[in-house]
Amino acid sequence: MSGSAASRGVWGSKLGFILAASGSAIGLGNIIFFGANAYRFGGGAFYVPYFVALFLLGIPMMIVELGLGTTQRSALPGAMYKTTGKGGEFWGWWSLLNAMIIAMYYITILAWVASMLIKGISGALYENGAGTVVPSFMKSISSWLTVALAFGIWAVNIFFLLRGTNTIEKVVKVFVPLMWFFMIVLVIRGLTLDSGFQGVWYLFTPNFSGISEPAVWQGAFSQMFFSLSLGLGTMTAYASYLPKKSDVVANGSVVSFMNCGFEFVAGLAIFSMLFAFTLHPGPTTGTLGLSLVVVPIGIANFPALQTLFACMFFFLLLIAGLSSSISIIESPVAAIRDKFGWTRKKALLAVAGFGAAGSVLFALPMMLKKGGNPAQPLGLSLLELFDHWAFGYSLLVVGLVEAIAIGWGYGITKLRNQINENARFKLGPWFDVLIKFVVPGLIILVLLLNVLKETGAKLTFIGIDKTGFYKGDSGTFDGYGWLPMAVFGIWLVVTVVGAYILTTKGNYPQQEEGEA
Ligand code: TRP
Repeated sequence: MSGSAASRGVWGSKLGFILAASGSAIGLGNIIFFGANAYRFGGGAFYVPYFVALFLLGIPMMIVELGLGTTQRSALPGAMYKTTGKGGEFWGWWSLLNAMIIAMYYITILAWVASMLIKGISGALYENGAGTVVPSFMKSISSWLTVALAFGIWAVNIFFLLRGTNTIEKVVKVFVPLMWFFMIVLVIRGLTLDSGFQGVWYLFTPNFSGISEPAVWQGAFSQMFFSLSLGLGTMTAYASYLPKKSDVVANGSVVSFMNCGFEFVAGLAIFSMLFAFTLHPGPTTGTLGLSLVVVPIGIANFPALQTLFACMFFFLLLIAGLSSSISIIESPVAAIRDKFGWTRKKALLAVAGFGAAGSVLFALPMMLKKGGNPAQPLGLSLLELFDHWAFGYSLLVVGLVEAIAIGWGYGITKLRNQINENARFKLGPWFDVLIKFVVPGLIILVLLLNVLKETGAKLTFIGIDKTGFYKGDSGTFDGYGWLPMAVFGIWLVVTVVGAYILTTKGNYPQQEEGEA
């Protein structure tokens, strides 16, 4: 192997890669967002679209992203450049700028999780019974302590990434088995509660009346991309550290099924608790509230060891989140190194410096009032607004671009043949049909509905009742009516202009042919 390939980094073993990729996939998305989505869309109504999303979008795009990384041995912008030229490269950088925004608030959420964990460990969480959880959470999200914790979480991420695949592998070898262990303990506890099993029925009884609602499909598609770590270049970056002869089909399937398996176990743990204690998350609980408030309230009702279980749950969230956040950050770090030849340390510190500044923004504790609704911290409000654009659009747009650019531009048959050379289970021509037609078709449909919704079009006839320009989950903030529009503008300019600059600046170093 040539020196340059070795210094990019390589996984020590196949298992190391599988653990790193599933550590990336299993994260807050599987626990916080899956539970909230499945609840919002009515349990059994959610999993028909969910399985369609897994087989028609998730696994195929997982194979494309891993295939790009393995065959091109570059992070997303470089891999797109080598396969589809400057146009493709632009979207690679665009996706990484969105990844930066998502990393910023992902880490702020981890800081909130950490502050809940600290409350648990210090015994403050259940001091006065289950009722203390809500004020604890409110205090966490409206305190300057979170800002300090966010810096702490960035520091941990830097530490985990400092020596690349080397350190990543060490971390995931401990974290991934540990998160499975904690999750299994929690699900056993949940299912053995009286009437805990009702949650299982709620989650597993198909409800076909829901599947005519596009909102459910849109929720399932975005959830699937986020959960599998697709659309932000993560899987391409991780796969670029694999030997060229790796079996992409096997890797992609194993990682996808492990991730969705974990998601279902997490769903069972949460739903069994909701049903055992007849907890009804209110409409204002919000996505974060389900895991950071409702679940701890459920745990407070356990017959014994409440604090221990609550700490275990927060600790689980923290390690699952950390093994994901490192992967979101590694993606831009790898891309910058590929193109500009920076050392790992320099690229990592630049990304982390920029990222930590953003995390502070999302942790800002000043309270804003919303007409009629309870006040909410400025940081959380900004998080909702940026999440709407960065999460709501970037993953699916990038997925669409990848499918079209690779499917039609580079030629999916070419990539499929390269993948098949080393695959035990060979992909047939049906795979080309999926990438060229099915994936783009489904994503375009969902994006179109999103855009229509944004413009305020009347879509009640297909089950979408909240239309109009997005102003945050509970409406506009008093005196800050301009904020939603400003956030949209900032997001658009930063990601588009930033991607343009990164695409046009510099050139990729000449490729060394015959590289291992
Ligand atoms: N999949 C992770 C989760 O479920 C989050 C994540 C890590 C991610 N890397 C990503 C999401 C890349 C989208 C793209 O929490």
